Amino acid sequence: MSASKFPPARILGIESSCDETAAAIVEDGRTILSNVVASQAEMHAKYGGVFPEVASREHIKTIYTVVQEALEQAHLTLSDLDAIAATRGPGLPGSLVVGLNFAKGLALGSGKPLIGVNHLEAHLYSAWLSADEEREGSPDPPQFPLLTLIVSGGHTELVLMKDHLDYERLGGTLDDAAGEAFDKVARLLGLGYPGGPAIQAASLGGNKRAFKFPRAWLEDTWDFSFSGLKTAVLHTVQDLQPDAKGKTHKKSKRISRQAISTDGLPIADLAASFQEAVVDVLVTKTRHAAQEYAAEELLVAGGVSANTSLRESIAKGAPGRVHIPPVHLCTDNAAMIAAAGYYRFVHGQRDALDIDALPTWPISEL
Ligand code: KG4
Ligand code: ZN
Repeated sequence: MSASKFPPARILGIESSCDETAAAIVEDGRTILSNVVASQAEMHAKYGGVFPEVASREHIKTIYTVVQEALEQAHLTLSDLDAIAATRGPGLPGSLVVGLNFAKGLALGSGKPLIGVNHLEAHLYSAWLSADEEREGSPDPPQFPLLTLIVSGGHTELVLMKDHLDYERLGGTLDDAAGEAFDKVARLLGLGYPGGPAIQAASLGGNKRAFKFPRAWLEDTWDFSFSGLKTAVLHTVQDLQPDAKGKTHKKSKRISRQAISTDGLPIADLAASFQEAVVDVLVTKTRHAAQEYAAEELLVAGGVSANTSLRESIAKGAPGRVHIPPVHLCTDNAAMIAAAGYYRFVHGQRDALDIDALPTWPISEL
C-alpha cells in the first residue's frame, strides 16, 4: 500500500537534456528501483564545456543500453510500467530529441502513456525521492508553500511552489547561471570541467575572505546576476599574474601562503572567495524570499546544490525545514524525471506521441 495520498505507479524516466544520458525506474514518485547515469563529462572536458553535437551523438550511442540497464537493475520489463516519462525541455535541442524520441518509440511499442517532463520541475522533484544517508535535513517530503531555488548549469531560478505542479516564478538570473559561473571561473583558474566540483575541491584550505568579490544584490527584485562577479575574478587574476620580471601588480594581504599555485596564483583563496560570493547571494535572497512569501520550508535543487558550502550555509540557522537532495541526485539524473513524471501521471497528464521538444521551456509556463 502506498503511503502517499496518490495512487501507486511505476514510471520509467529518461533524461538527455545536456551531457548525461540517464534512465531510471521510480515507484510512487519516491522509491528508486534503478537509476543509471552515463556521463559524458570526460568527453566535453577537453572543450571546457558541453559541445552540443558531441552530446547528441553520444546520447544516440548510449541511450538503448542505459534504458535496458535501468530495466534490468529493477528486474522489470516495459509491461510492468505505468508510464514512460522523458525530459521535453529545457535543454540542448539535439540532445532533447534523442531521449524524447526514444521514449516515444517505447510508448508506441508498449502501449504505455508518454509524459513530457520539464527538467526544472524534475530538479525540484528530486527532493521527493526516498531519503538515504546522504540527504541533508528532514527525511519527510516537503510541505507547501515551499520556497525553492533551482541552481544548475543552465538556470538559477527562485520559485514559490504552492502545491504539487503549482509554481510562481519569482525571479532568475539575468545573465550567467550559477553553475555556468562556476564553470567559467574554473576555466579561468585553469581548473577542470565541470567547474563546480573543481572549484569546491580547489577552495579547500583557501581563505574565503582573501578577496572581496562583488555581490549583485539587484535590490527590489528576486533576480540574480553573476557575470560581473566572473569579470571581477578575471580582473583579479590579471592583476595577480606575474609580469616578465616575476612581479605581481597587486596583492591581497589575506592570501594564504600554502594556497599559491605553481603559476603564482593563489588558486585556493580565489576559488574560496568566488564560491563565498555566489553562496552569499543565493542564500540571502532565498531566505528573504521565503520570509516575504511566508514559506516555512526551503528546497534547493540542481547541480550547484551539490556544493558543500551552499548546503551548509542554507541549512545553518534556517527557521524551518530545508530540503536538499542527496549529492548524487543534485546533478542531472533520470530518477528525478520519473519522480516528476509520477506527479504528472497521477494528475492525469498524457501526452500525444507527436509532441515536440521545447528547448527553452520556462517553469512559468507550467
Ligand atoms: O543540474 P545539472 O547537472 O545540469 C543542468 O541542468 O545544467 O548542473 C550542472 C552544473 C554545472 O555547472 C556544475 O559545475 C555544477 O552544476 N555543479 C556544482 C557542483 N557540482 C556540480 N557547482 C558547485 N559545486 C558543486 N559541488
Ligand atoms: Zn539539470
